[in-house]
Amino acid sequence: MIEIKDLTIGFDGNNVLENINFNIHKNNITIIVGQSGCGKSVLVKTIEGLYKPLNGKVIIDGYDIFSLKRKQLQQIRRKLTMLFQGSALLDSLNVYQNVSLPLFEHTEFSEKDIYDIVTEKLELVGLKDILYKMPSELSGGMKKRVALARAIILHPEYIIYDEPTTGLDPIIADEINKLILKLYKNFKIVPIIITHDFDCIKKIGEKIVMIHDKKIIFDGTLSDYKNSHDPRIKKFQGKY
Ligand SMILES: Nc1ncnc2c1ncn2[C@@H]1O[C@H](COP(=O)(O)OP(=O)(O)O)[C@@H](O)[C@H]1O
Ligand SMILES: [Mg+2]
Repeated sequence: MIEIKDLTIGFDGNNVLENINFNIHKNNITIIVGQSGCGKSVLVKTIEGLYKPLNGKVIIDGYDIFSLKRKQLQQIRRKLTMLFQGSALLDSLNVYQNVSLPLFEHTEFSEKDIYDIVTEKLELVGLKDILYKMPSELSGGMKKRVALARAIILHPEYIIYDEPTTGLDPIIADEINKLILKLYKNFKIVPIIITHDFDCIKKIGEKIVMIHDKKIIFDGTLSDYKNSHDPRIKKFQGKY
């Protein structure tokens, strides 16, 4: 479980988020929604430990990540990875080099083992025979899959997907959503998804958290979210 307690995050004297409280459970899929610019990416980057909050705690499976020593933090952070908005592949490296990077950095596996793990993970995300292609030669959907293979290479327990289908056409977006679900059902990699894709929300959302004006204004089930009478939520839904 990930517990977010009284989190306030800001930059240069301006708070982006204030007193954020919610939990992420392993037994359901959490989707975070809210208008563009409301602080969703900032929130998940803080959960990932990339930003330090002004106040509050992020507790991952019992560990308060901002009070850990470096080494412990590194261990806990392996529980949680993130698929960034955009794919964040390194353009100067080919697919194999991109996907294998965390293995070379964090494990002692032999080159042969690394090769096997990389090909296995690429197959898992539905890619074959593209090991030596450069990111510039790949479509948007393929880049996402490569980034996903890299994100799961160290067997995380949680994965944050920051707008995983934004910019993809509906068919490819649907495939990515199915892949997120497959990784959850078959490999227990718990997804936390930021999305505007109402199709994704309806098909795989279980728990919805909505941010509005620096605060959480909804934290509940998908059906309660769909039936909400809160005008701010209805207005947001009307946009889809
Ligand atoms: N590193 C940063 N330094 C200063 N301000 C930032 C930084 N990152 C994001 N912000 C600001 O925080 C706000 C929320 O941004 P973001 O989390 O990216 O929104 P969302 O992902 O919901 O579209 C924006 O006003 C943005 O300009
Ligand atoms: Mg964002």
